[in-house]
Amino acid sequence: MDQNQRHSPWRIKPINLILKHEEEPDKSLKRTLGPLSITAMGIGAIVGTGIFVLTGVAAARYAGPGLILSFVIAGIVSGLAAICYAEFASTVPVAGSAYTYSYATLGELIAWIIGWDLILEYAVGAAAVSIGWSGYVTDFLQSALGITLPKALTASPFSGGIVNLPAVLIIIFLTILLIRGTSESSTFNNIMVGLKLVVIIFFLIVGFGHINPAHWTPFLPFGAGGIFRGASVIFFAYIGFDQVSTSAEEARNPSRDIPIGILISLFVCTVLYILVTLVLTGMVSYTQLDVSSPVSHALILLGLNAAGSIISVGAICGLTTVLIVLLYGQSRIFFAMSRDRLLPPIFSHVHHRFHTPYLSSIVVGIVVALVAGLTPIDVVAELTNIGTLAAFVMVSAGVLILRKTQPDLRRVFRVPLVPWLPILSIISSLILIVSLPLITIIRFIIWLALGLIIYFVYSRKHSSLEMLTE
Ligand code: ALA
Repeated sequence: MDQNQRHSPWRIKPINLILKHEEEPDKSLKRTLGPLSITAMGIGAIVGTGIFVLTGVAAARYAGPGLILSFVIAGIVSGLAAICYAEFASTVPVAGSAYTYSYATLGELIAWIIGWDLILEYAVGAAAVSIGWSGYVTDFLQSALGITLPKALTASPFSGGIVNLPAVLIIIFLTILLIRGTSESSTFNNIMVGLKLVVIIFFLIVGFGHINPAHWTPFLPFGAGGIFRGASVIFFAYIGFDQVSTSAEEARNPSRDIPIGILISLFVCTVLYILVTLVLTGMVSYTQLDVSSPVSHALILLGLNAAGSIISVGAICGLTTVLIVLLYGQSRIFFAMSRDRLLPPIFSHVHHRFHTPYLSSIVVGIVVALVAGLTPIDVVAELTNIGTLAAFVMVSAGVLILRKTQPDLRRVFRVPLVPWLPILSIISSLILIVSLPLITIIRFIIWLALGLIIYFVYSRKHSSLEMLTE
């Protein structure tokens, strides 16, 4: 690396250096995950608040029964990005997700921006999911057990409460679980994912018999624009497949299993979402879905209370798995950024007995618990969406750049139809970004500006690439 490049924000981390990290025993993680666990992790990360919570609001306020088209659009956007992620993941099989890949291709500054973006996707996303979790728990306690929790303790100050306590408590509990070790959490995750799929299929079977096709008209009560606005909200439902790639360093055969995990889990979820939306909007009028637990609510509206409670329990389990993988992903991204010294070293400290980056998990847990306790769900969900979409744009661009700059690099999985597929991925993500409300776009720009200040004040000077000599 020459002198100029040494201090440049465009400096690139050589891939062999990235791979070498895995050989440092005190800074590497145990390889315990097989393909089934990885795919389960993907489904566990994906099916959650998007389908169980946001579907209701999006159908009632933005898209009506046409929400099914919103799911198709958001599914296509995610699928295109997933294919790009899969190529990246098959070339750079270490922890850190889009952050690591972009460090090897687009340079340090872009990597930092993506890492900073991913905080929105993972940490802020975890906060959104824990708020959805809290909604289902509160409803379940009330409908099944007759226990009413006071609003002061179940809503943020912006929604008429003081703190969302169930959301805070679940984050604390899961943070402790994750610190104890990936292996145990992955077994727990597999069981919960199975349960989640069973209740969704149960909902489809029960709901199918109660469809009244009259509910599907008018199909687009808010016009065609509503489809895109709806898609920009329920896009949240697809977030998580890229999380699979953050577990690469703990996968037994990352180059093969990570792309498989990403694509299969996304495909399964897309099919489920389309079916759930079709049944949900066919069972009741979309106008009745503006509630925090629409899936169980629809069953209760039809007098199917017991089925409603079963769905609630399944949703609570399902949302728990999403939370686990998001919290896991965030601590691993901080771990990777800290190992590169763009963040302080405490984030890459591995626990001597549990082999997990426990300090990173603790910091993430505290911050997410605070955001979850004090913020309304729509604000955090939309911020999560914009952060993730921005990362999609950069990853898709990264595939194009890497094909030019390092054409001979070994790629176990290759994106077809280059350059068209990545270009389409970039354009489609941008369309969803501009479909979000202006306030969300402004908040995102402020977040980016904050990230840039931190990079130029701290990260650039401490970067481990500063230390490299020719
Ligand atoms: N896709 C995840 C969910 O919907 C983040 O909860």
